Amino acid sequence: MTAELTIALTKGRILKETLPLLARAGIEPLDDPDTSRKLIFETTRPGTRLVLLRGTDVPTYVRHGAADAGVVGKDILLEHGAEGLYEPLDLQIARCRLMTAGPVGWQPGAPRVRVATKFTNVARRFFAERGVHADIIKLYGAMELAPMMNLADLIVDIVDTGNTLRANGMEPLEEIADVSSRLVVNKAAMRSRHSAIVNLVDELTRAVSEGIAA
Ligand code: PRP
Repeated sequence: MTAELTIALTKGRILKETLPLLARAGIEPLDDPDTSRKLIFETTRPGTRLVLLRGTDVPTYVRHGAADAGVVGKDILLEHGAEGLYEPLDLQIARCRLMTAGPVGWQPGAPRVRVATKFTNVARRFFAERGVHADIIKLYGAMELAPMMNLADLIVDIVDTGNTLRANGMEPLEEIADVSSRLVVNKAAMRSRHSAIVNLVDELTRAVSEGIAA
């Protein structure tokens, strides 16, 4: 059947927290995303399907209308921009913080600071707003290694429990943004599939408040 509504989901931790919200809204995948190798899942709601993507690809699919809606971390939206998207709902899941961090006891000294991160746009904006000269070094993972290997002075990364920083002799410094997952919607779909989208937003809004109350 032709999908009436396609929702793009982020694989991994966000997915684990998104599925219970969708289930409360009456949308459950017919196959188990944990064990299936599929990328497209039909659901218990005929005409509504889920696609599983990397987080950074969710805004792209939704912006281009390949998916009508999506669930993505605010960190991704801050880094890659949210043009062409509505962001109607904070799902209040996968909460964490985008932070600067450095080796324990680190003090600013040199006129320039080297910052390793995969959030290069966020980091550039953050240091520019403070008038700090920052050389931004793009990495794709294991940011905590960069100061230990003298590749960078500081990092900008997601901090949840802080365990990863502690385990690597680092400490959080300044908070850049609170992060949680957001529902995003394609702007054209908001008009062409208005009632389906509004229903989804309403149902997820209820599911979020039930989740908070539970
Ligand atoms: C994030 C982040 C840290 C870790 C922080 O990585 O990059 O490494 O989580 O969590 P903690 O404060 O609870 O230790 P993630 O596991 O999401 O993988 P990623 O490197 O693919 O982003």
